[in-house]
Amino acid sequence: MSGAALLTTYAATVTFDRYEDIRAALFDPNLSRTFDKRSYHEGNIRDGIVSIAHGATHRARRRIENTQFRADVLRLYERELFPKVMNDLLDTLITSDRVDLFPIGELLSVVLAARRAGIEYDPSSLDQLRTLVRHVDAFSQGSAILDAKDPEAVRALVREAYAGFEREFVRPAWDRRATLIESIRKGDLAEQDLPQDILTILLLHRADANLELSDDGRVVREVATYLQGGTHTSAQTLVNALDLIFAQSDAQRLLARVAADTLFAQRVVQETLRLRPTTPKAKRRAEADTEVAGRRIPEDALVVLDLAKGNRDRDVFGPTADEFDPDRAVGANVPRWGLSFGAGAHQCPGRAVGGGFPIPASFDVDDDHVHGLVALEVQAVARRGVRPDPERAPERDLRTERFTRWLHYPVRFERIHRP
Ligand code: HEM
Repeated sequence: MSGAALLTTYAATVTFDRYEDIRAALFDPNLSRTFDKRSYHEGNIRDGIVSIAHGATHRARRRIENTQFRADVLRLYERELFPKVMNDLLDTLITSDRVDLFPIGELLSVVLAARRAGIEYDPSSLDQLRTLVRHVDAFSQGSAILDAKDPEAVRALVREAYAGFEREFVRPAWDRRATLIESIRKGDLAEQDLPQDILTILLLHRADANLELSDDGRVVREVATYLQGGTHTSAQTLVNALDLIFAQSDAQRLLARVAADTLFAQRVVQETLRLRPTTPKAKRRAEADTEVAGRRIPEDALVVLDLAKGNRDRDVFGPTADEFDPDRAVGANVPRWGLSFGAGAHQCPGRAVGGGFPIPASFDVDDDHVHGLVALEVQAVARRGVRPDPERAPERDLRTERFTRWLHYPVRFERIHRP
């Protein structure tokens, strides 16, 4: 077994940047995401969350949490809930022909992420949504702590965010769900009448020792993980999609296609994910000596998986791998988003929420197809005539080494809907 409770000096650093090698590493059970094995009180702000759990605990968590991403629920969100919420919010937020698209993307995404996480908030209160987005921003920096330039500052920020998040959003939701679960135990309510969300499922199964959820703080952090996982990534992908489109010589034609064709909008999003992964480099810790793609990896080595490079591997994506081409043909079994949702045990549970279902080579999809929320967002802004703002340059988020993240993305709109 591996020793160091907080691994900061490594036995070796091994980097993989080819698509197939990265996949092999992602499936190796000897590689974990657990760089910090300390408790929360000892300073591990990510203690106990699914993203860093390993082995049996991780499998137990994913088994119950994956139930919240069933295809019928995704379809319901995409067809009934999201379009109205999205268009109402866009009407409220786009009040001038010049706006910053990044915070709008965050507000759009946090609404549904909150619902899935199981948080109670007042949907008519923009202030509450903005508070949630502020918390998400803190959790997001926490999830990138390995790449943080000032990890101590991030720890302090995240601790404070958890406290406010628990008090204002999780506790009221928890109390209501605890009452409902009690009614089930008394036989007054059936399990299918419970809300469908991560908090409910965690509370319902909490007694299962394999989940390692007896500590209340772990439940709060797990809910925060799902809130964050679903918000920032989607908002960054929306902005990156437009940034890539604006850089093409036929940008206007592409925007018109996006506005007219949801499946094309989805291909734009999946191509964006490939070129601009929200996690450009994933990291793993060797829990024991192992070997990947013929390379020996000693215990306590840092393994760097360069997803951004793997996504441009010419052996997989062809000679035009560096280009933005939403119509590209990809081989069978190769996702159009490359490795941007990971693979193996930690593969993103929300991939169909953000990016939709895989698109067949024929581009023929049936009525059950899910396009993903970011495609609907890109399409909605294209329909409102989104254009670059020649007077204000976008601003990257330089707080981590993740080059695909933005802080501000000013755009202009040709059409403004008055609510
Ligand atoms: C465009 C959108 C998204 C992108 C690019 C994205 C990307 C990723 C990646 C790369 C990982 C794996 C990291 C690794 O293995 O090192 C991951 C894991 C995860 N994602 Fe996403 N994600 C997105 C949307 C979502 C959504 C919508 C949710 C929830 C509603 C979500 C929740 C999570 C969670 C909980 C994990 C940790 C899973 C585990 O460790 O077992 N993500 N995501």
